[in-house]
Amino acid sequence: MMRRMRISITSALLASLLLTACAERKQDGTEASEQSGQDASKIRIGITFDTFVLERWIRDRDVFVDTAQKMGAEVDVQTANGDVQTQKEQIRKFADENMDAIVVVATDCYLLTDEVEDAREKGIPVISYDRLIQDVQTDLYVTVDSEAVGMLMAQNIQASLPDGGNVVMICGPEMDSNSADVVNGFETSLQDGPWDVIYKGYVESWAAENSVKVVADAFAGTDGRIDAIMCGNDGLAGYAIRSLSERQLAGDVVVVGQDADLEACQRIVEGTQSMTVYKPINDLARTAAEYTVNLARDGVLSGADSPEPDVKETEDGHAVPYVGLEPVAVTAENMDSVIVDSGFHSREEVYLNVGN
Ligand code: GAL
Repeated sequence: MMRRMRISITSALLASLLLTACAERKQDGTEASEQSGQDASKIRIGITFDTFVLERWIRDRDVFVDTAQKMGAEVDVQTANGDVQTQKEQIRKFADENMDAIVVVATDCYLLTDEVEDAREKGIPVISYDRLIQDVQTDLYVTVDSEAVGMLMAQNIQASLPDGGNVVMICGPEMDSNSADVVNGFETSLQDGPWDVIYKGYVESWAAENSVKVVADAFAGTDGRIDAIMCGNDGLAGYAIRSLSERQLAGDVVVVGQDADLEACQRIVEGTQSMTVYKPINDLARTAAEYTVNLARDGVLSGADSPEPDVKETEDGHAVPYVGLEPVAVTAENMDSVIVDSGFHSREEVYLNVGN
């Protein structure tokens, strides 16, 4: 009870600080929308994505932009193409242009401190989208719970290998703080039982081709049999399964990933991937857009039908208002109910190679 009380007090305090900051900005007349309550048509949002190479970010972008535009805002979309220097420049440019809010899908969660600080000193709220920007205060963190993602991956391996087995971990890049959360959820869930992690590697970035080397190292570095491979996302899972195919092992090794990429869903119904994690990306992007427009326009932390923000701390102790959505494990058994019925992917697309 006390902890909950503390969080709610912290949230209220945090929200009032944010309101003050945004109100001050709006009174100094340094931007187009001087007073609260003004028509959102004057709201301008800058959003910078890490990359659009990975399938899911296209969906994040389209839903975020559509929602914000329907609220009357203008959105300037940029991609860093995986380069943190590019992303730093984009954040600075947004601040120089006096955007009413800046949204960041961090290429590197640990290298944006100065840019975020400078933007916030101008009174521009900065939102951590999906990945929590570390070592600096941001005004909101909206994501899908990555620790829960790791737990779902572990649960699938445990269900698939009830008598235990050798597990390889091909983790996402350490520059994405979500990777550590996924690993933490995975290892915490797997720790008690006959599942042995015999190899753990991190890819350098989300560029899936990096996983080829990590998978090769995993096979080279383990003289024993590999029974399961945990992959930081479906892109890495695809490369891992390609490597398994070269050893005639595809379908014999449990492979788990996340993002519910179309190719991963196809592999699941074909039997070479055991599970992926569906993240309610449409809800995530819509929620983030609603909060961002309301924060930029009225200095309030609210989303239409979204939960009151909780609080999440960065690794160095900054308390950030936090909205976390829940992930869902996807296997062949619930592919239709979770992926097809929601329209995330069509039946024709998912069953393309199995004729269902
Ligand atoms: C992570 C995100 C995952 C996945 C990955 C890139 O930050 O939490 O859902 O999208 O990026 O595939």
